[in-house]
Amino acid sequence: MTIIFQNLTKNFKNVVAVRDFNLTIEDGEIMGLLGPNGAGKTTLILTMATVYHPSRGTVLVNGSDVKRAPTLVRSMIGIAFQDPRFDRLLSVHEVLDWHAKITGVAKGVRASRVEDVMRRLGLWEVRKRRTWALSGGMKKRVEDSKVFIQRPPVAVFDEPTAYLDLQTRLLVWDMIKEMKEEGRTIILATNMMDEAEKLSDRVTIMNLGRLVALGTPSQLRHNVKGGEVIEVKPSDSFKIDLEALRMLPNVEDMSVSDGTLKLFVTEGRKALPIILEKLSEQGIGVESIYLKEASLEDVFLQYAGSKLTS
Ligand SMILES: Nc1ncnc2c1ncn2[C@@H]1O[C@H](COP(=O)(O)OP(=O)(O)O)[C@@H](O)[C@H]1O
Ligand SMILES: [Mg+2]
Repeated sequence: MTIIFQNLTKNFKNVVAVRDFNLTIEDGEIMGLLGPNGAGKTTLILTMATVYHPSRGTVLVNGSDVKRAPTLVRSMIGIAFQDPRFDRLLSVHEVLDWHAKITGVAKGVRASRVEDVMRRLGLWEVRKRRTWALSGGMKKRVEDSKVFIQRPPVAVFDEPTAYLDLQTRLLVWDMIKEMKEEGRTIILATNMMDEAEKLSDRVTIMNLGRLVALGTPSQLRHNVKGGEVIEVKPSDSFKIDLEALRMLPNVEDMSVSDGTLKLFVTEGRKALPIILEKLSEQGIGVESIYLKEASLEDVFLQYAGSKLTS
């Protein structure tokens, strides 16, 4: 199902959480929403899901307007919330069985689907445990399971692997990919670059409520000036003559943070010795130096002018 955000703005009193947001998510794609905490990802999702009312603009889900047909819109969407809240007195199994029931999972398949997902995500052993007694990671597994059981046309995951160990993260990623293979439209909000990069067909980078970049992971990487990055950790960063480096022919842009210098370059293999030579001319020792392809983090750095931190 196609989802269209039209000039969407959402304010909370004087905080503009989402600002003039325009985006079309295509039927059947995984759209990554990547941005630091506070970027507006959750607000965007919750407005699409009719939890919040738009301040201006609107969202169309499969042609239905969230303002005019909220019930219909809700019926098409399943969300794994960022901060799961369960009825404390229910067990894991009860929470999931109830969710299956209210979202219309057919009676004939309900029990087996709930069991399959619980077994895959390692919840079978704790199925009788009350949800208040679960760790953060276990709660996240239960929250993600809701959507894997529901299998809605539009599946939304808000930081689905926060608090999860690596093995479980990989499992959740596989299960999200399977949902895509079934033709569902998927929105994945995350502040982890690797997650956005591995799963998304396209990524929307958000910062301060705005869309700052949109494209496939490789398009975004190639949009970085120069396309390659040389990362230098000098032994003494304070003495570097940055302007002299900036003047070098292959250097397109640069940034400094946490004592690391990033040079956005073209033809990195040619640029590398020239940069080393320049540093040595300046009497700068080098602790480490790497040449790599630009990453989504570098994209973010260029568009938003700050580091993507979680
Ligand atoms: N219910 C709310 N009431 C007031 N401010 C909110 C509320 N939800 C989010 N905000 C604010 O809106 C901005 C965007 O937050 P959020 O959508 O949670 O971003 P993200 O999910 O990208 O971390 C932040 O400045 C946040 O403090
Ligand atoms: Mg959020």
